[in-house]
Amino acid sequence: MKAVPPLVAAAEMRAAEHDFGHSCQQGVGELLSFLATTTPPGGRILELGTGFGVGLAWILTGLGSRVDVEVVTIERDSERVASLAEVDLPAHASIVEGDIETLLPTLGQFDLIFADAEAGKWTGLELTISALAPRALLLVDDMDISHHDSSHDRSTVEVVRKALMTDPRLTAVELNASSGMILASRRAEVP
Ligand SMILES: C[S@@+](CC[C@H](N)C(=O)[O-])C[C@H]1O[C@@H](n2cnc3c(N)ncnc32)[C@H](O)[C@@H]1O
Repeated sequence: MKAVPPLVAAAEMRAAEHDFGHSCQQGVGELLSFLATTTPPGGRILELGTGFGVGLAWILTGLGSRVDVEVVTIERDSERVASLAEVDLPAHASIVEGDIETLLPTLGQFDLIFADAEAGKWTGLELTISALAPRALLLVDDMDISHHDSSHDRSTVEVVRKALMTDPRLTAVELNASSGMILASRRAEVP
C-alpha cells in the first residue's frame, strides 16, 4: 500500500486521540480518493458519517487543487464535529451537524456518495439512492459480513447487499477488499 497522504495522517491522528476506531480503512480511502477524481466539473460529493474526518481527508486528497467540487459531510455527534472546527477546511467543503435521514432529503443530488454510517445505509437506504444524480456513484462501506459480530447485523448487511445488487436503478459490483464495499452507479435511463 502507498504511504498515507498528510491530510489523512492528520485525521487518523485526531481519531486515535479520541480513541475512535471506526474511520474508513486505507483500502476504502484510496478508492474513495480515486472516485473523487472522477467527479464532473462543478459536481458534488456527500459523505454520510464524518467521524473524525478520515474519509473527508481522502476525498479532499483526491480532489487536490480542484475547488469546483462541493463536498458535504454529515455527522450527528457534536464532539466529532467540534474536533473538525480546528481543521483548516477549504471553502468548498462543509460539515453539516445533524441526523442523516432528516437531512438527506434536503440537500439535493450528488455525483458521489460515500455511505459510511448506519443511517442512509442499514436504514434509510432509499433516501441515499434518491440523492444520487444520474450516472452518480455510490460507495457503500462495511459490506464484509465476516466483520460483523451479531446475527442481526449480518442479516442487515445481507438485506442491504441484495437491495443494492438487484435495484434496477443501479449497476453494482461487490469489492471483496478491505472492510468490504459495494460500488454502484445510478443508471440515467431508469427513472
Ligand atoms: C463509521 S463512522 C464514519 C467514519 C468516517 N466516514 C471516516 O472515514 O472517518 C460512522 C459515523 O456516522 C455517525 N452517524 C451514525 N448515525 C448517524 C446519523 N443518523 N446521523 C448522522 N451521523 C450519524 C456516527 O456518529 C459516526 O461518527
